[in-house]
Amino acid sequence: MIGIDKINFFTPNTYIDLVKLATYRGVDPDKYTIGIGQSKMAVPTITQDTVSMGANAAFPILEKKDLTAIDLVVVGTETGIDESKSAAAFIHQLLGIHPFAKSIEIKQACYGATAGLMMARDFVKTHPGRKALVIGSDISRYGLNTSGEVTQGAGAVAMLISENPRILAIEDTSIAMSENIFDFWRPNYSDTAIVDGKFSNEAYVKFFNLLWTKFTEETTYSLDDISAFCFHLPYTKMGKKALLPLLENESAGVKEKLLAHYDLSTEYTRNIGNIYTGSLYLSFMSLLDNQTTSLKPNDLIAFFSYGSGAVGEIFSGRLIEGYEKHLDTANHKDMLTDRYDLSIEEYETIFNKEIPKTDGIHSLDEEKYEKGTFYLSHISNHQRHYEKRQ
Ligand code: HMG
Repeated sequence: MIGIDKINFFTPNTYIDLVKLATYRGVDPDKYTIGIGQSKMAVPTITQDTVSMGANAAFPILEKKDLTAIDLVVVGTETGIDESKSAAAFIHQLLGIHPFAKSIEIKQACYGATAGLMMARDFVKTHPGRKALVIGSDISRYGLNTSGEVTQGAGAVAMLISENPRILAIEDTSIAMSENIFDFWRPNYSDTAIVDGKFSNEAYVKFFNLLWTKFTEETTYSLDDISAFCFHLPYTKMGKKALLPLLENESAGVKEKLLAHYDLSTEYTRNIGNIYTGSLYLSFMSLLDNQTTSLKPNDLIAFFSYGSGAVGEIFSGRLIEGYEKHLDTANHKDMLTDRYDLSIEEYETIFNKEIPKTDGIHSLDEEKYEKGTFYLSHISNHQRHYEKRQ
């Protein structure tokens, strides 16, 4: 049995309230909170990037014995900080993982962490007793006053993959598909994504339907067998657009179970926004942290991963007896309630700040706003340097 032994997320300490933003933009707030389904949006300062957020997500779950057992570090990201060097190379050092491990970055939009998870599962299968660390870390940016603005966000998820996992055993059958489309993309010269919003919604739903049909053929599972779905959530309404048509001819019991669990799975995204690669796994944590008694050991969870461009995958996993003892629910909730509520002016200033691109040493100081354990402290002749708060 191989799967998720530990899991954690990190989101920056600063957010913008979306009713405040809607009012400022002259939009009916119900469009954001009901039509899109988002309440708050994480906005990272310049000192929190893909590397620091990934390290911050992983640090609390790693014990000394893990640091000597992890032979593979995979970071899925579409907002990497270097065209050549992987975010994983930095994170491997920041976390103190032993030197004889391989550290790599994977890119395919929001699908990257799922590619990493599947690679990690296969790696552990062929290296008994060893572990893999999988991270999804991203900053979602479309630009100020764009239609995508309300679907931005920032954060990271870290998962320790091992034999005899304590949270979720990943099943062998999964179905993936690829299609070369332009629903969402980001050319190398742009720091904001380009999106065909309506087409991206349609592509997401189409991928889900095709994958679900093939997944049920291969596994013979039906909706009766599934206790909950976790979706990649660019915004909380998106997964529902895919799920609702599937439920049309189902019994009241199946509808009630899957919709109740869907709502629990969206709680964290509603308050953070799209974190791209980590999003699917954030919805898994939201489901586990927010349910109390409805999910039992051996319950089957179905996961839908979607990365624009596009690659999708549906896979499943079974909850392990005692899984609830290995979640960090209280800290997750504290992280979200203790954040700094930005004014519109602070939000736009922070959004527009850029990393210095000239020679020399540039110190970065955002102490007023952020309190991540790891943070980007300075750029020295184009090299990023991170520090750890004690
Ligand atoms: P938009 O044009 O601003 O919004 O784009 P809209 O006019 O379509 O309205 C959105 C919803 O709000 C509609 O509901 C309206 O009816 C409703 P729907 O028809 O969708 O059910 N609405 C209201 N509801 C209540 N009260 C009101 C009101 N007014 C309107 N007063 C869009 C929205 C999401 C397209 C845009 O924000 C966008 O382009 N976002 C980025 C793209 C995106 O998130 N796509 C999702 C699928 S692709 C994906 O998941 C991959 C991705 O994560 C990237 C990756 O893989 O790396 C994005």
